[in-house]
Amino acid sequence: MTRTTAHDSPRPAVAMTIAGGDPGGGAGLQADLKTFAAHRVHGFSVITAVIAQNSVRVARVAPVAPALVAAQIATLVAERRPDALKTGALADAAIVRAVARSIARFDLPAPIVDPVMLSTSGARLLDRAGERALVKSIFPLARLVTPNRQEAEALSGIAIDSPLAMRAAAHAIHRLGPRAVLIKGGHPPRADNSSAPRRLVDLLFDGRAFVEFSVPRVPGAGAHGTGCAFAAAIAAGLARGLALEEAIRAAQRYLGRALRAAYRLSPAGRPILDHGVR
Ligand SMILES: Nc1ncnc2c1ncn2[C@@H]1O[C@H](COP(=O)(O)OP(=O)(O)OP(=O)(O)O)[C@@H](O)[C@H]1O
Ligand SMILES: [Mg+2]
Repeated sequence: MTRTTAHDSPRPAVAMTIAGGDPGGGAGLQADLKTFAAHRVHGFSVITAVIAQNSVRVARVAPVAPALVAAQIATLVAERRPDALKTGALADAAIVRAVARSIARFDLPAPIVDPVMLSTSGARLLDRAGERALVKSIFPLARLVTPNRQEAEALSGIAIDSPLAMRAAAHAIHRLGPRAVLIKGGHPPRADNSSAPRRLVDLLFDGRAFVEFSVPRVPGAGAHGTGCAFAAAIAAGLARGLALEEAIRAAQRYLGRALRAAYRLSPAGRPILDHGVR
């Protein structure tokens, strides 16, 4: 009789997230881990900030010492180099620089960079000096940067009020150094959701060509942590060997399923993605 042991089983794909925590399990590092698991990818999770939050609000943010962020990465990499990397909230400039140094030192895969600056509720998840450090030291290393509309406007200085303006903003952000930029279309241009278009378009630019990824918009209030899950799903796809465009398409489909199955933890809470959907 032959027995399969952990020792004999095939090596799993491994994705690493470097992000702030959400103890409520809807966003951040915890959402990234659940997203990796849903994609059958083993997750490494390097925590950059302990954040007291629920799906309604952020109460407190405590950045982790930069040396401890670097030590988490070094310890994990000593055992196994990840196949893909994603970064989320990096809290401050010293952490940003520690992460950039670690990526270079260990020759980590070029990251999917979710340029998280503000939480949906308005709390700062990266200070101003951190924003400048992110652009200067992490963007040039990035495989992909995934700003939402608001972040793309801040990064490019361009008001995104038309498809043409969205392309101009993508051009401007690409000049900041990443290999590619994906401007997310999750937020409609106007705050009025009643007039939200029926499809949403995420726009990819790799310095040569634009690719539009159009999907039906799932109606409703959106959900807590969509941006985290989206970037994590792209990283999971890369870890499994997909090309970037395939990984983006698969991530959009995953987000659609997770949004349709979203649930609330309390009447006041924002919907939480069902990360476990197949
Ligand atoms: N209503 C929706 N229907 C279908 N797909 C969606 C919807 N909302 C978001 N997505 C998908 O999820 C991706 C990320 O969502 P979004 O644009 O809201 O990111 P974000 O603003 O960074 O989110 P967060 O508020 O978590 O920071 C979108 O690019 C899109 O592909
Ligand atoms: Mg976001």
